[in-house]
Amino acid sequence: MKIAISGVSGQLGSFFSSQLKDAGEFFDGYSREDWNILSEKDSEKILAAGKYDILINCAAYTDVEKAETDQRSCIDINACALKHLSEQCRKHGILLVHFSTDYIFDGMSQKPYQETDKPNPINFYGASKLEGEKIIQASGCRYLIGRLSWLFGGKDSGFTSKLQKWRDEHNVLKIASDEVSAPTFAGHVPNVILSAVEKNLEGIFHINNGGGCSRYEWARYFAEQNNWANTIIKPALMSSFKTQARRPGFSVMCNKKIQAICRKPIPEWKLAVKESIQKNIQ
Ligand SMILES: NC(=O)c1ccc[n+]([C@@H]2O[C@H](COP(=O)([O-])OP(=O)(O)OC[C@H]3O[C@@H](n4cnc5c(N)ncnc54)[C@H](OP(=O)(O)O)[C@@H]3O)[C@@H](O)[C@H]2O)c1
Repeated sequence: MKIAISGVSGQLGSFFSSQLKDAGEFFDGYSREDWNILSEKDSEKILAAGKYDILINCAAYTDVEKAETDQRSCIDINACALKHLSEQCRKHGILLVHFSTDYIFDGMSQKPYQETDKPNPINFYGASKLEGEKIIQASGCRYLIGRLSWLFGGKDSGFTSKLQKWRDEHNVLKIASDEVSAPTFAGHVPNVILSAVEKNLEGIFHINNGGGCSRYEWARYFAEQNNWANTIIKPALMSSFKTQARRPGFSVMCNKKIQAICRKPIPEWKLAVKESIQKNIQ
């Protein structure tokens, strides 16, 4: 199995790289400097016939706030680039592994979203990711799209890293209690994807740690596990923060479809948070 990873220096790309290395798999990891996925010419060269069996595309525009005003870059990376990536994959029989988000949903559901539920993004990032999904689906290539939510682990600009920075500056942190999803340890995603590839699975799958919580509950649990004695965490409403992008109030996804084929159960979010703290990859 010959694998190419684009966006290898990002949060998820780094975990794929280290876990494939540990598993002794053949892969080439490309950072943005080695392969800008916006370049059709470079994509053609890198994905030339016979070089790879699988492309794991971890490259993405992920700044939800900035996306509202930097729309051109966001749509180019999250959607337009998928046109030539999926075309190359179709032409050369490469399986395209790609990632989407719970932000394709509007958050109005009362129960965890299933893969068959109708998307209705309420921010530009979510809309760009949904457009990417549609382009891949229409391309005729073999694909596996993992929709992820609230990814954490090893990223400076991620929520848990932000919590640590805010804690250095304030004694009281106000965190949204009306924004609910499932924190997902990026380190758990590669194993799920590799199980799915092993089973020749194709299509769209919800991949997230089990259960769900508000950002406030996540912050409280994270603080408790890190023994933050002097930090007070208070609940607040999303509307009290000045943000550019709207976020779904409830975007927990049901992971039963992918769970059924996994070698190991996907842990609940609290176990995932604990594991990341134990491994010091917060
Ligand atoms: N983070 C989350 O909470 C979350 C939630 C749901 C779904 N997802 C999805 O999960 C996937 C992985 O996210 P992540 O958290 O690992 O993102 P990330 O840490 O922001 O990594 C994305 C990587 O893509 C690279 N990149 C951006 N534009 C590129 C281009 N034109 N060509 C090549 N590389 C480019 C970035 O490079 P630079 O650093 O140089 O920009 C970065 O290394 C994405 O598809 C994302 O939409 C993430």
